[in-house]
Amino acid sequence: MSYPVILDTDPGVDDAMAIALCVAHPKIELLALTTVFGNVSVDQSTRNAQYLLDVFGATDVTVAKGLGKPIVQAPLPHSESVHGDDGLGNCWDASRQLNTEAKHAHLANLPAAEYIVQQAQQNPGKITLIAVGPLSNVAKALQLEPNLPNLLRSLIIMGGALDEPGNVTPVAEANFLNDPHAADQVLAVDWPATVIGLDVTHRIMISDTHLGTLRDNAGDTGRLLWDSSRFYVDFYVSKGAAKESEEPACAMHDAAAVLFLLMPEAFECVTGRSRVVDSGIAVGQLTCDRKGYDYALPHWKSVTPNTAIAVAVNDELARGEFLNCLITQHII
Ligand code: BDR
Ligand code: CA
Repeated sequence: MSYPVILDTDPGVDDAMAIALCVAHPKIELLALTTVFGNVSVDQSTRNAQYLLDVFGATDVTVAKGLGKPIVQAPLPHSESVHGDDGLGNCWDASRQLNTEAKHAHLANLPAAEYIVQQAQQNPGKITLIAVGPLSNVAKALQLEPNLPNLLRSLIIMGGALDEPGNVTPVAEANFLNDPHAADQVLAVDWPATVIGLDVTHRIMISDTHLGTLRDNAGDTGRLLWDSSRFYVDFYVSKGAAKESEEPACAMHDAAAVLFLLMPEAFECVTGRSRVVDSGIAVGQLTCDRKGYDYALPHWKSVTPNTAIAVAVNDELARGEFLNCLITQHII
């Protein structure tokens, strides 16, 4: 059995890991990458999506370009200090630039949100949407098709931080901060949805030894992941975020959302009515009613659906699946 997947993404070094896993894993049928602003502009994230599919040998996967800014708030600066000016750790190889249209992943003639809706309508109940950038395209798709939650098999979101501190403010994770209104609108709807946030993605680190193993044993894919992660690992080391491991390492954020689809048993979730703060000093914060109280304040008075939020993970199992998949698929 394989899972048809649309990955909504803003590549991004860890997005590249998620895309590589989607391409390589035998249980995933990657239908499309839909692109969004975030780590870089949407123009650059779309170029990166095409480039990565080219390097990973998956030019049959469609790319649909999405929104270039948040649905309400003014755009925040992109994350060049984390992912490099090109979003891929400044590793673009000049000889591999996209200079001919034909051999590169097909660019859909529909914008991302319309494309998601079209695919969901044509394949009701089949597609898993994995969103690993700001949730702008997903919110737009919901506006276009309010029945979208019933048309998808499931929605997996990389975003938010519940008990873990944020990575861009003390409480906010980057994807939710980049479009908090979209994130709140998406969580306000009753989906078969799971949030994979920093509580677990900060636990799934990948070290330079692991990345070196991929470089040496996973062909062009492994070499791209090694090259693109040099800048990103340096960022993590500079922030002291890798100090628990004995060597340089970085978080696999977006790949964790794909791993949840493949091995949900490796994750532990809490469930509750969830919202995202859309203004003020806590903007971007994920909040969840884990007690099921009848809170009097209007924000909580209206009935909002339960969302599952991952709070713990067996990181060895999850990382092992990622590494084994990329190495085994290359050998085959
Ligand atoms: C998330 O933000 C982006 O920088 C990463 O690609 C990931 O999706 C982590 O907070
Ligand atoms: Ca991302």
